[in-house]
Amino acid sequence: MSMPLTVSRFLMPPISLIGCGASKAVGDYLKKLGAKKALIVTDQGMKKFGTADSIKQCIEEAGLQAVIFAGAEPNPTDLNVADGVQAYKDNGCDSIVSLGGGSSHDCGKAVGIVSTNGGKIHDYKGIDTVPKPMPPFIAINTTAGTGSEVTPAAVITNTENHVKMVVWSINVSANVAIDDPELMVGMPPALTAATGMDALTHAVEAYVSLGHNPKADALALKAIELIAKYLRKAVANGQDMDARVGMAYAEYLAGEAFSSAGLGIAHSLAHQPGSFIGLPHGVCNAIFLPLVCEFNMNACLERYADIAKAMGEDIAGMTEREAALLGIEAIRTLSADIGIPSGLTELGMKEEDIPEMAEWALKEVCTPTNPRTTTLQDMVDLYKKAM
Ligand SMILES: [Fe+2]
Repeated sequence: MSMPLTVSRFLMPPISLIGCGASKAVGDYLKKLGAKKALIVTDQGMKKFGTADSIKQCIEEAGLQAVIFAGAEPNPTDLNVADGVQAYKDNGCDSIVSLGGGSSHDCGKAVGIVSTNGGKIHDYKGIDTVPKPMPPFIAINTTAGTGSEVTPAAVITNTENHVKMVVWSINVSANVAIDDPELMVGMPPALTAATGMDALTHAVEAYVSLGHNPKADALALKAIELIAKYLRKAVANGQDMDARVGMAYAEYLAGEAFSSAGLGIAHSLAHQPGSFIGLPHGVCNAIFLPLVCEFNMNACLERYADIAKAMGEDIAGMTEREAALLGIEAIRTLSADIGIPSGLTELGMKEEDIPEMAEWALKEVCTPTNPRTTTLQDMVDLYKKAM
């Protein structure tokens, strides 16, 4: 095993609670953090289906207060963040509970950053640019994908130029992360598929990242194994609790893996159609992942062979190259089996946007840890292949 030449950074992870019913502990943990009144940052779906009210009730039963802010949109924007900060101040809140998938957590984290540091979220884009910690923060996750409940990152769309701003800092970690599979049962098949492929992209990109290390390797390979075993089942039958629990662990492990090792250009490429025309993050990642694996393969054939094995493929007697290709094929087959579209054209992406998207993708914080050196022309070519 080759060891990384850089110093690995193991950021302090949040305390994690995983399991059916884990979200009921939210009030107790807010109390332990010294909170009195929480802003629940969530989306319209969580409000409509009553999940936000149930969490509010759990908090109130612990003797605390809570206010619901349901303004986190998919691919949350700087405007959502400004509204959330206003709600936090107007209601005299002292803590935040983000409830939902990555959009709610990212929006909640950004509200937390601005409420303690002042200014606007644009001031904090980049790495280690957040001086003060967020207020006490609990992330309750209801999808099995983004890993945002455990990562030290928030991704917010700048509405002025439609580009995603990535904020990555030790001060952007939740204090407590809760993954409750009972709250994931209601996810429709398409969302289960998209978020599951996002988790797979985290695990694969972390495993081949230039920042890879033994801790992240162990987490990433286990996540890939669990996704190969459970994602089809979770999409086929959302009530299959074994599959939901398996995917909850998988997305948590993948989130921890990329918090430690970083990501690669599947994410750099995927963020742009997300911010340009609002395409779902998981679907974009699923489309780019096999293309990026083929592009990167020569940089670390042995790692792609490991991925094939973790995907459940029999690689006995194969060369590393044959095994790597088999693993990439297994990723494509999984994607097709769970109904992910095969290209961006059918989702409304325009060829004319490619030059600008490629430039932004090259500048992304995920690009430097990609195992193969990437040029602007490479980004253009990958976008063209993904159409
Ligand atoms: Fe992601």
